[in-house]
Amino acid sequence: MNDMATISRVQPEYSAAAKAFLARKPQLFINNEWVDSSHGATIDVEDPSTGKIIGKVVDASDRDVDRAVMAARAAFDDGRWSGLPPMARERIMIRLADLIEANADELAELEAIDNGKPKTMAGAVDVPGAASHIRFMAGWASKVNGEVIQPYTMPEGAVFGYTRKEPVGVCAQIVPWNFPLLMACLKIAPALAAGCTTVLKPAEQTSLTALRLADLIAEAGFPAGVVNVITGNGHTAGDRMVKHPEVDKVAFTGSTEIGKLINRNATESLKRVTLELGGKSPVVVMPDVDVAATAPGVAGAIFFNSGQVCVAGSRLYAHKSVFDQVLEGMAETAPFWAPRPSLDPEAHMGPLVSKEQHDRVMGYIEAGKRDGASVVMGGDSPEGYYVNPTILADVNPQMSVVREEIFGPVVVAQRFDDLDEVAKEANNTCYGLGAGVWTKDVSTLHKLAGKIKAGTVWGNCHAMIDTALPFGGYKESGLGREQGRQGVEAYMETKTVIVQL
Ligand code: NAI
Ligand code: MG
Repeated sequence: MNDMATISRVQPEYSAAAKAFLARKPQLFINNEWVDSSHGATIDVEDPSTGKIIGKVVDASDRDVDRAVMAARAAFDDGRWSGLPPMARERIMIRLADLIEANADELAELEAIDNGKPKTMAGAVDVPGAASHIRFMAGWASKVNGEVIQPYTMPEGAVFGYTRKEPVGVCAQIVPWNFPLLMACLKIAPALAAGCTTVLKPAEQTSLTALRLADLIAEAGFPAGVVNVITGNGHTAGDRMVKHPEVDKVAFTGSTEIGKLINRNATESLKRVTLELGGKSPVVVMPDVDVAATAPGVAGAIFFNSGQVCVAGSRLYAHKSVFDQVLEGMAETAPFWAPRPSLDPEAHMGPLVSKEQHDRVMGYIEAGKRDGASVVMGGDSPEGYYVNPTILADVNPQMSVVREEIFGPVVVAQRFDDLDEVAKEANNTCYGLGAGVWTKDVSTLHKLAGKIKAGTVWGNCHAMIDTALPFGGYKESGLGREQGRQGVEAYMETKTVIVQL
């Protein structure tokens, strides 16, 4: 672990394409055009690998938000998108997926520069994931249908009853900074497949790839106003979007705190709401595991994306008979996860996204130490916004590091003795997003999968996410499901038609 201190953290030079993109005038994408903001306010773009300001984006005003919402409203109301043959909508969406893939290298670099994640990771996970969400959802444009239903109280043939699936309308889609392009595409894809129009707002920390995506949206051939991309702060632009009377549905990914606030604000006009929020996901390691294979998997569950993952495996429960070996095996992965600048080809983990997030995570580590936790590995920040992969042991369920979402490369490790006890501990949280179970015993795996209150339970893997499988949270981890058939249905209303014959 000593060699971690000697890593040289020099961010390699940006490509010419990235430099050209960063030099662009800060603008908003409304009605398929790049337009100026109604005021001059901007937000700095920072490279978290260096802490340097590298550009600016618009901080959208209320008037900017209104303009984007009205563009989406007009595009929805005249049916220029929902009225197209499903095949035409599918074709345009697939063109967008193709364009994302054709520009994969630039998108991965911009994501790395903006968020701090390794470009290799963005290229392997974020960009292909973004394209696959759009490809998969494109197919639903032609495959979500209503049904003909025989009424219960009326004689056969007296009445013709059927349902229609109709798009909800104008969507406000607000995404966070941990997977900026992936989250943007995960949001717009089902909305577009359903026939909705949208205003997308990336997080103020990471707006670059959403803006680059806007170029590709215009190029793919979407009619004007179907997708509008505005940048800006959450408490101003985001808030305006959520409260806007012309918005029919709000879709949000981010903190539980803001998710609750958004849900309250959207209630005024009973907007449709889906929320994808925080987590404190347990990882249970049973005594029968192959430790050599499990330990790196359990380390990856927390250290991937510097732990800035809603489903990060942040609470480890290892059976007492393997606890020490699992922690040793995890510690052996420390050099692999040693944080490096995002464009360093050897990086597997980058810095945290911002000074705010860095300070927040370090604050948790300090609180854990004060409360009596012992640092098995890491626990420090080598420089800048970098945090070394950290394992805390000797923790108890009262500590803030065990209860609260840290959103950094920090795992709290606990021992357990029996199955019932560990299921209870795993559920001892206000969250319920993900959970991992590591065992060779199929019966144990399925029993635990049934007992753990979480939207997704992984067996012998973690954070494996596929666009065809529904994803969402129990308890305070969210509302509704994204992805899969449920994902597109969350953007549709069901209309019943009853005709007396
Ligand atoms: P946040 O929840 O404040 O920000 C997420 C998005 O919501 C951003 O686009 C932001 O502009 C927008 N937003 C903020 N306030 C808003 C409001 N009043 N109305 C409408 N939109 C609003 O997350 P933040 O502050 O960046 O991070 C704080 C903590 O949240 C993190 O430490 C982490 O624990 C958690 N988080 C969880 C994420 C997840 O994927 N579950 C993603 C990001 C953060
Ligand atoms: Mg916030």
